[in-house]
Amino acid sequence: MNVELDFIALTKATGIWMQGAHHVIKGPSSLADHEFLGTVYTYFEGYLDTLIEKTMMITGSDSVACPVKIIAGISAISRRFMSPVGHTSTEIMITTAEMLSSYKNELERFYMFCEEEGLLSMGFDDFLMATSSDIENFIYLVSRRAGNE
Ligand SMILES: [Fe+2]
Repeated sequence: MNVELDFIALTKATGIWMQGAHHVIKGPSSLADHEFLGTVYTYFEGYLDTLIEKTMMITGSDSVACPVKIIAGISAISRRFMSPVGHTSTEIMITTAEMLSSYKNELERFYMFCEEEGLLSMGFDDFLMATSSDIENFIYLVSRRAGNE
């Protein structure tokens, strides 16, 4: 695995987790939580598509888009994640906040890697910055929800 593939696999894995949490969450706040998690996983799907295409362009390598390698990466990463099944909505939303914060840190590390490697075009720089800002907004919203009960 390389840095780009690891980051793409983490992005896909985070999106899958958010979609699964969207499916299984229940309880008094579940309608709002379900919709929030739906917004997050849908965002990750669209963002991942652009991330892969831009990364291919920047690196000049098709291997960062290899589904078999991405699936292997997701499998390795999955051991770090708590299953949302069998947890309360508050536990799921606290974990969502932690996962998004951790993802934002990884995004910043990926950004710094790209900068050091001379891979940041103005467009790629702008894309990663905008994504970081969007994820900060999700963290703000979910942190308020997670501390709400
Ligand atoms: Fe749904």
